[in-house]
Amino acid sequence: MKDHSKLDFQTKCVHSGIDEYEFGSVVPPIYQTSTFKFKSAQHGASLFAGEEKGYIYTRMLNPTIEAMENAIAELEGGYKALGCASGMAASHTIFASLLSAGDNVVCSSAVYGPTTTLLTTIMKKFGVETTFVNTSDLNEVNDAMKPNTKVVFVESPGNPTLCISDIEEISKIAHANNSLVAVDNTFMSPALQNPILFGADIVMHSLTKFLNGHADVVGGVVVVKDEATYTLFRKTLNQTGGVIDPFNAFLVHRGLKTLSLRMDKHCSSAIEIANRLEKHPAVKYVSYPGLKSHPHYQLGLKQHIGHGGMITFELKEGLEAGKILMNSVKLCQLAVSLGGVETLIQHPASMTHFSMGKDAREAGGITDGLVRLSVGIENVNDLINDLEQALKKVNELKPAIESV
Ligand SMILES: Cc1ncc(COP(=O)(O)O)c(C=O)c1O
Repeated sequence: MKDHSKLDFQTKCVHSGIDEYEFGSVVPPIYQTSTFKFKSAQHGASLFAGEEKGYIYTRMLNPTIEAMENAIAELEGGYKALGCASGMAASHTIFASLLSAGDNVVCSSAVYGPTTTLLTTIMKKFGVETTFVNTSDLNEVNDAMKPNTKVVFVESPGNPTLCISDIEEISKIAHANNSLVAVDNTFMSPALQNPILFGADIVMHSLTKFLNGHADVVGGVVVVKDEATYTLFRKTLNQTGGVIDPFNAFLVHRGLKTLSLRMDKHCSSAIEIANRLEKHPAVKYVSYPGLKSHPHYQLGLKQHIGHGGMITFELKEGLEAGKILMNSVKLCQLAVSLGGVETLIQHPASMTHFSMGKDAREAGGITDGLVRLSVGIENVNDLINDLEQALKKVNELKPAIESV
């Protein structure tokens, strides 16, 4: 693999993970095979014994998947990466590898809903206890640390409130307690934020979002900093089986090439939309890390180089008005997920964060009226016009809302 360390991130997006391939193929070929033929019985035995390097079986390692993993490890500044079947499989790989019965996890209270549920159901069933705290408040993180806390799991910006947690300071607190820090970097992508630079030990992504960027893949990835963690995680992934498929890995690798360009557009459009929404009379508040009104604006400037494509906001007339808005948009599509080229709008309390239950949502600041927007790469004026015509409908239907 060539040394790309001196190259700019834009160039790395195009070239990372790319090696010399058979027939001079410029892109990694799709090795859509479940298994690999051994040259001899001895060859097979020595591959299994780890005496020789090579491919055995796709659940264990596959060249197309490995090319994507190498690319993402390089973009995140990690040692190696592991391609998983989904973002949830990535989180599960982290928890199942590092935690045993009797251990504790400290986790951000504003995280993707099923991450909470994974910890409070499956991991709990195996004897792992979780303390959910507002990780934007360092005192809360400090107070939550226990001798048996093995992992601090941070999502920053948090889904969907977009609150920001100080990865550098949290890493110091965790390391002083001999705990590891894992960061869900899905909302920012390595184009905007590299948690490892701030001391995090593990980074994960839902590849389904910005890294693939085209809403046609479900996948996940875990990036680690050292060989021992990589070996441990690879064993877990091999045994639990939640690996990504070669074709999906190929698509993600293709998506990575335009990551930098796409993130620039997501960011420039999102700030324009956030500014417009903030001034709109029907809007109660807007949460976007690039707005000066965001409570963690300064921290964001330290930690990421762009503020991302995600906006959350609440309308003055609450949930009923939000429903009218979501039913009235024509260009923005009413769908969960995020990070694709097309703009999506959704309602976290009844959709992505429904499984958490109301109490956990309230603890994470996820109010019933909150609407989440994933800003795509369409022309920004078209998006603003669409949102404005939908907000006009909210205004027209205000008397109907008041009678609800
Ligand atoms: C921040 C975040 N992390 C993890 C996930 C889970 O990813 P997946 O749906 O690929 O399992 C999501 C999904 O929306 C997410 O938004």
